[in-house]
Amino acid sequence: MLIKQAADIPASEITPESVYLKRRELMRGAGLFAASSLVPSALLASSELAPLSAREASSSMAAQGFYTNEDKTPFEDVARYNNFYEFGTDKSDPARYAQELTVDPWSVQVEGEVARPGTYSLDDLLKGLDLEERVYRLRCVEAWSMVIPWIGVPLHRLLSRLEPTSKAKYVEFTTLYRPAEMRGQRSRFSTIDWPYVEGLRLDEAMNPLTLMATGLYGRELPKQNGAPFRLVVPWKYGFKSIKSIVKIRLSEQQPRTTWQDLAPQEYGFFANVNPEVDHPRWSQKYERRLPSGLFSPNRIKTQMFNGYADQVAHLYKGMNLRRHY
Ligand code: MTE
Repeated sequence: MLIKQAADIPASEITPESVYLKRRELMRGAGLFAASSLVPSALLASSELAPLSAREASSSMAAQGFYTNEDKTPFEDVARYNNFYEFGTDKSDPARYAQELTVDPWSVQVEGEVARPGTYSLDDLLKGLDLEERVYRLRCVEAWSMVIPWIGVPLHRLLSRLEPTSKAKYVEFTTLYRPAEMRGQRSRFSTIDWPYVEGLRLDEAMNPLTLMATGLYGRELPKQNGAPFRLVVPWKYGFKSIKSIVKIRLSEQQPRTTWQDLAPQEYGFFANVNPEVDHPRWSQKYERRLPSGLFSPNRIKTQMFNGYADQVAHLYKGMNLRRHY
């Protein structure tokens, strides 16, 4: 039994990651977090919840694509190098300006082809669903990447509870529109038609890898990373992983998405990570894994479906991925 008491973690481990990493190593065997808190100390103290050894659990998690043992990108980079155009276009803008956003209370409108439409408080929407940890690669279309330990709820669990009708073929997600608190939305220079919208085919949304994240690194989601509720689709370019979601709509028709509207020849609806299909203005064969610097560029080969082919390639069988980029 590998679960240790919280007291075993030396007080000297004061940085968030080192505390985090040790706790996660111990907790991974448990697989799940209690629904209501991100780092429940009760779980650390429990012996009943760890039927597998940490090693057994992590290899089964890895086989499902839920976990990678690649070096995690430090919290500081995950939370300071961001794309969140609602707060500006510079990578440092979201960390600086997202603090102006109010995320509590938060409600999510559910509409379209579902048996249980309505406006739900985030708490009600997620009530009773277990939070899970997923350590995923995130590959931005701009050719940088990170490895991030997310906490969240698999989207298929949430959708099943909302009961899509037989007509539902797509899921559309919309980000909050609140120019008073999102300075990028009130910028005269913005070319985006707000709010930011993204979408998935229903089978992509129901894939076990697709996560609705509410936290990362064992803590609440930083605002710059899309608090309080964002999508994470690890086999697709990062722009599909829409942040700060206030609306989920199930539909029969494929939704129009922000980047497709803006530059359809550059950003497709599918946006699957694919080293064989270059962006019209740059190659997608390699990526810069963060942290990286001038003297340690950390350039690595990009993998098909960002390394999740075993889990998702079947979704695209028979499709021409050059055409459906
Ligand atoms: N969601 C919204 N609403 N607005 C954005 O500008 N940027 C996307 C995606 N989700 C974006 C968004 C892009 S391009 C990327 S790469 C990821 O968020 C970055 O997520 P991160 O900042 O948490 O790493």
